[in-house]
Amino acid sequence: ADEGMWLLSLLGKNIEQMQAQGCKLTAEDIYSVNKASLKDAIVGLGNAGRPFWHFCSGEIISDKGLVLTNHHCGFGVIQKHSTVEHDYLSNGFWAYDMKDELPNPGITASILQRMEDVTDKVNAVLKDDMTEAQRAEVIGAVSKQIAAEAVKGTNLQAQVIDMFEGNQFFLLVYKIYQDVRLVGAPPQSMGKFGGDTDNWVWPRHTADFCMMRVYTGPDGEPAPYSQNNIPLKPKHHLPVSAKGVQDGDFAMIMGFPGTTDRFLTSFGLKETMDVTNDIRYKVRTEKLRVMKEGMDADPKTRIQYASKYASCANYWKYSHEQNIALKNLNTMGEKEKIEREFTTWMNAESARKAKYGKALTLIKEGYEAMHPYNEAMSYMQEAGLQGAESPLFAVRVTNTLKAYFDEKTPEMIKGRMMDAIKDNATEFFKDYNKDVEKNLIATMLKMYSDNVTEEWHPEVIKMINKKYKGNYDKFAKEVSEKSIFTDQARFDAFLAKPDMKKLEKDPGYVMGNSLFETYQKLGGLTQEMRTNIAKGDRLFVKGLMEMQPDKVWAPNANSTIRLTYGNVKSYKPKDAVFYDYYTTLTGVMEKEGPKGGEFEVPQKLKDLYYAKNFGRYGADNISVNFITNNDITGGNSGSPVINAYGELIGTAFDGNSEAMSGDIDFEENLQRCINLDTRYMLFIVDKMANAQNLINEMTIVY
Ligand code: ARG
Repeated sequence: ADEGMWLLSLLGKNIEQMQAQGCKLTAEDIYSVNKASLKDAIVGLGNAGRPFWHFCSGEIISDKGLVLTNHHCGFGVIQKHSTVEHDYLSNGFWAYDMKDELPNPGITASILQRMEDVTDKVNAVLKDDMTEAQRAEVIGAVSKQIAAEAVKGTNLQAQVIDMFEGNQFFLLVYKIYQDVRLVGAPPQSMGKFGGDTDNWVWPRHTADFCMMRVYTGPDGEPAPYSQNNIPLKPKHHLPVSAKGVQDGDFAMIMGFPGTTDRFLTSFGLKETMDVTNDIRYKVRTEKLRVMKEGMDADPKTRIQYASKYASCANYWKYSHEQNIALKNLNTMGEKEKIEREFTTWMNAESARKAKYGKALTLIKEGYEAMHPYNEAMSYMQEAGLQGAESPLFAVRVTNTLKAYFDEKTPEMIKGRMMDAIKDNATEFFKDYNKDVEKNLIATMLKMYSDNVTEEWHPEVIKMINKKYKGNYDKFAKEVSEKSIFTDQARFDAFLAKPDMKKLEKDPGYVMGNSLFETYQKLGGLTQEMRTNIAKGDRLFVKGLMEMQPDKVWAPNANSTIRLTYGNVKSYKPKDAVFYDYYTTLTGVMEKEGPKGGEFEVPQKLKDLYYAKNFGRYGADNISVNFITNNDITGGNSGSPVINAYGELIGTAFDGNSEAMSGDIDFEENLQRCINLDTRYMLFIVDKMANAQNLINEMTIVY
């Protein structure tokens, strides 16, 4: 089977099958604690505040810490460095000298040092008669202890995380680097070629890559940004293959998949389809419209909102396509079938019944009880607290300020609190446009009011409907003109002399605070239901594993490093249609559209194409993207696609819409992973960017 995001320390269970499929490596070549192995070339890209969450993956491709990842992974960073004068989004960016590489404070790169199954240690403190709360508490405590012990006296960081919905526990130890610089990126006309139209779509023609570099202190260890830092000397870097791929070739991917929900039940699936996906799609359609209006009107706004727009659009389309795929593939039917088999198995023995009899009931009743709140909660997340941007900004600043003025807060940490507020504000106002925000406030709050039952209307919504007679534009205008959270000068003036009394009358505060109150209320009321569902899930998965003891089970993704293996593979997306396994530059030319649009093709690329100036990367054409049947999800973006010999053949960057249900139920025949061919990457770095410094750094295998 090609399903499975496997844990590196347990590859012993997979390696025979991998070798049978063509892999020439041993399990030790891939993951070893004692000697250099593939895992040493894989990085999880993250944010300093959330050490164990990885928004993307990347691979080290030189002995100087050069990292290859996706353009859409570096998008936020590229956007942050862009201005109307230096528009790296539109024009691309290349550092021809290391001193020109651009630092990105807050971005981190993690490399796994080792991992270990610690289920026995955790189970040792659990008792059967514990309540869920007690259970959570002792698991938290023992996890903390295990992690602390694992890194004692080192500069490493460790987490203990559960697998199989709370049935197993693993310790993962990382080295986390804090100085990650931008090295190069093609223009977005190439890096994001096809835009939202082609997003989640095969056949694809996108150069979705950028390059970064990991730096260390002079001692070779993680250090915050400093001019004195030096490029990382990695334990291993991947050789880059320019040999190309054939249908059927062995291919594996290592990276940090974010979340999958393969054990989701029919009850949870219904909520995902009818509530989460449906509402997310509807709300974001409006949100994107408002942002686009502002972006089209002004070049500065276009750059400011580019990254926010792209990330909003990504799961906007995903939600929509996922619902279509779930229906087409009858995922609900599949889930119900598994649940029937489980029930039959369970009922066959009284001991099983005693252990697992309540599992599905807990889940079913949990979702039923939660349903009335779920709609409000989804609207609250999408249109309320995180619809416009000032509400959450106001809540964050206010909470920190409250702590700042709290008598119990020690003087010595107050300075840091004020700095945090200032950083938060600088970041917020950097990519802020007054009109866009005003329109977002009006549109989003109105959407909440129109779609959520009155019972769950926050005070601010009630107030607008009454005092403003439902005139959301009028309210938004007032927030825009009066609040400290919608104007940098007003905010700075306030912060110079903060006054909580004044703050409480601020319309932006009133809005944020009121939304947050309802959000917390909803969270509190559904707490018990979520706990029951989690308990049901734990029992259900435990039972499933007991029911099929010979199956090699793969845990859901949870932002820990995994390996998936399979083949380069074409597919049939629908009746009578065949999709080949690779695309070429010819397809880029075929798709060409107007300048400034999603399908713009740079003149230089056309010139190279018609002159067949392909260098060593292609004879008659250049291979652009190819597909494999690997099992990946969001977070895997930027992961290396590795051949049977441990060489880099591609970089994973997307999945196909026909199998968008795959995070919930893997689709053997349909699910494909869309990858950038290394030859297209090399061609661009060499011929488009003429960055010979980077070509010379890599170990290219021709
Ligand atoms: N769908 C891709 C993912 O989530 C992101 C693709 C970004 N490209 C784009 N045109 N929006 O991994």
